Amino acid sequence: MNPVPFIRVHRIEADMSRRMMTRLNSDSDQIEAVLRDRKAPATVVGGKVTPGFVEYLLRPYPGTKVNALKALRADIALAVGSEDVRIAQQGGHLAVQVSREVETRRRVRLSALMERASKVADYTAVLGLSEDGAPLMARLSAPEVGHVLIAGATGSGKTLLAQSMILSLCARQRPRQLGIIVIDPKLRADNAFARHIEEHLLLPIAHDATSATEALRRVCDVMDRRIIDGPPVPRIVVMIDELADLCMTGGPVVVDALTRIAQRGRESGLHLIVCTQKPSAKAIGPLLKANLPLRLVGKVASLEDARTAAGVPGTGAERLNGRGDFVAVTGSRVIRFQAAEPDVLTPSVGRLPAQPGLTGLYGSGLELQAAR
Ligand SMILES: Nc1ncnc2c1ncn2[C@@H]1O[C@H](COP(=O)(O)OP(=O)(O)OP(=O)(O)O)[C@@H](O)[C@H]1O
Ligand SMILES: [Mg+2]
Repeated sequence: MNPVPFIRVHRIEADMSRRMMTRLNSDSDQIEAVLRDRKAPATVVGGKVTPGFVEYLLRPYPGTKVNALKALRADIALAVGSEDVRIAQQGGHLAVQVSREVETRRRVRLSALMERASKVADYTAVLGLSEDGAPLMARLSAPEVGHVLIAGATGSGKTLLAQSMILSLCARQRPRQLGIIVIDPKLRADNAFARHIEEHLLLPIAHDATSATEALRRVCDVMDRRIIDGPPVPRIVVMIDELADLCMTGGPVVVDALTRIAQRGRESGLHLIVCTQKPSAKAIGPLLKANLPLRLVGKVASLEDARTAAGVPGTGAERLNGRGDFVAVTGSRVIRFQAAEPDVLTPSVGRLPAQPGLTGLYGSGLELQAAR
């Protein structure tokens, strides 16, 4: 293969795949973001793809020193998820060469993970494969899980991760143990995921603020009844995609209902799994945000976004690669994992048999099942 040149955003060369183009653009964004964060801003103006490496050409902003940029090699390496990064001067530009071994990322299928992690406590959702090769799961009923915030930029894999979690729960709990409510402006009832969880759906999928408000009002009624008397069964999981949009269109009524569920729902068997690109306290309300203990953070644009999403600094979320590359953050624990792809949707795999729950096996809600 001859080197294929690319010019930032403007043009796709004939023999460049869409996937490669997406990667070039996202790596360029990452590099620019990290340099901006480190106060040595530069623009990625283009580069080339060779069999061994991808080269990004940087044009430093006026005032940015070339040596300052060179000193940020390690930061750039983290931003693009590769240890093997070289920086060289080429005329007025700086060339950043990233080894292509990063492309061979392993995909993780939900069905395979569910087979490996077949004996787990009730109401345990499969998240994916942790960095050290063990299935990562979250037990909803545990206090350090309870409710889940999934945050990240577009394409980070939030929707697929939430769907994998719901599918893994529905595969193990019968409808009399678990009900699902979905609020998603984009999800149609004939979608494969929606059809797969049909038996567990308590209400039609809510697409707009009006039906979402009504659904949340009902969940709050259930909570009020259960607080006075009644067991927390069936547990109910409310899955919300595009949470910040819902908070904006639905206003205080929606935010208040969600905040109440997040504050008091867990003991009544009510759980939230919410996805958003905008996880700031301003966008979703500070009290709601503070009461979502487990945060699953995918690729974000900057250090600041990483901190906003995770709620704590130093998780490294700004260096994630997108498409299912996540960190799970609860309290002070940070676990990097590749999210499970919801492949149980394909008819050949079919529905998994319900598993007997082994409750009380685990001390913590976030568990790494020992690899077998
Ligand atoms: N776990 C995964 N493994 C492999 N690829 C994935 C995974 N998750 C997502 N992807 C890839 O990334 C694409 C975007 O995923 P998804 O729609 O879940 O992103 P999103 O974060 O919900 O984006 P948006 O904010 O725009 O809704 C998918 O179509 C798929 O190609
Ligand atoms: Mg999405």
